[in-house]
Amino acid sequence: MAEALYIPQTREKNEIYQAVLPQIRVLIQDEPNLIANLANIAAALKEAFGFFWVGFYFVENEELVLGPFQGPVACTRIRYGKGVCGKAFAEAVTVIVPDVNQFPGHIACSAASQSEIVVPIIKNQRVQMVLDIDSDRLNSFDVIDQQWLEALAAMIAAL
Ligand code: SME
Repeated sequence: MAEALYIPQTREKNEIYQAVLPQIRVLIQDEPNLIANLANIAAALKEAFGFFWVGFYFVENEELVLGPFQGPVACTRIRYGKGVCGKAFAEAVTVIVPDVNQFPGHIACSAASQSEIVVPIIKNQRVQMVLDIDSDRLNSFDVIDQQWLEALAAMIAAL
């Protein structure tokens, strides 16, 4: 297993994802424990991009329950359809929010969070969990993040 993450010193996020995703693949490929792998993925994304919060919520009894994450303490449970995470869960689509203050129903786990992306992880046609990333800056996420993070979600679904 890699002992340290190699992160290219660039502001070009395509390049960072391109360098980091294969390292994540190596990091998780021989480890069967899902929690261990999700914990390392959250850590890798936070370290690579300096996001404010990165973590997973598991679908459990039709609500979301907090899983491995990196960042400040967060809401433990999110109901179906509530907030950005609940929308990604209910609609099984990636949701990008450029300004969380403009998103009706946004659940503010921290007032510092300004923009957010939530990617569903779908297996057997069902959302099993969501990957939630928060930034403390506005407009941090776009289609580039969406494409790479959906590729990561597919990698996780295959675990
Ligand atoms: N803001 C999210 C809640 C989770 S925290 O950001 C970690 C939402 O509206 O679903």
